[in-house]
Amino acid sequence: MTDRVNGHAFDTFEGMPASTSIGDGDLIVGDHWEEGQFAGEYEQLERYCRARYNNYEIHKGYFEKTLTENLLGKLKTHKPILIWIDCDYYSSTRSVFEKLLPLIPSGCVVYFDDFELLNYGSRFTGEARFVAEMNRGAFGDQVELVLDKSLSMDSNRCYRFIRCDSGPSFQPIKGRHSTDQVRRRTNGSALP
Ligand SMILES: C[S@@+](CC[C@H](N)C(=O)[O-])C[C@H]1O[C@@H](n2cnc3c(N)ncnc32)[C@H](O)[C@@H]1O
Repeated sequence: MTDRVNGHAFDTFEGMPASTSIGDGDLIVGDHWEEGQFAGEYEQLERYCRARYNNYEIHKGYFEKTLTENLLGKLKTHKPILIWIDCDYYSSTRSVFEKLLPLIPSGCVVYFDDFELLNYGSRFTGEARFVAEMNRGAFGDQVELVLDKSLSMDSNRCYRFIRCDSGPSFQPIKGRHSTDQVRRRTNGSALP
């Protein structure tokens, strides 16, 4: 798929930002993520990818800054097929979707790595709070996240973004439905 799909990776590489919302925190014993926790190795990752791939971009910095108008413009033609969220905070998750929402097509897979990690997936916090908000209509009544059980196995982590407006959509490679489609039973039944 290297000539058909681009991977975009986003991270501060400086670790977690300071929390800005009660929705980011542990409600059970107050064991919150620390600013700077999970700092990464940007240079090492860039070197690793450069040696193996040419269909990727690594965007170092806050999502709020690295999801630029220029990049969002590119995603209008190269539509997202998989959005992989692994930023733990409700506030960071929300920032990403506030930028991406107008250009996500129906059917796009959205994976939430930390869905159950914070407060057992409470709707008050973390990535789960964002999912609950969207499904309550906070981003309009034409968009929702539907749990895809076939991808999630025993978790609540894999969703399909579904929109019911005139927003972006995927084009089928070949239409599945046509009037000459017939599925005959093999048991002699007159029913299709
Ligand atoms: C649990 S770590 C995961 C890191 C990486 N995906 C991995 O698997 O090793 C969460 C990451 O979210 C990043 N993060 C959280 N909020 C962010 C924001 N607003 N902008 C950019 N990165 C953010 C942090 O820098 C941190 O590295």
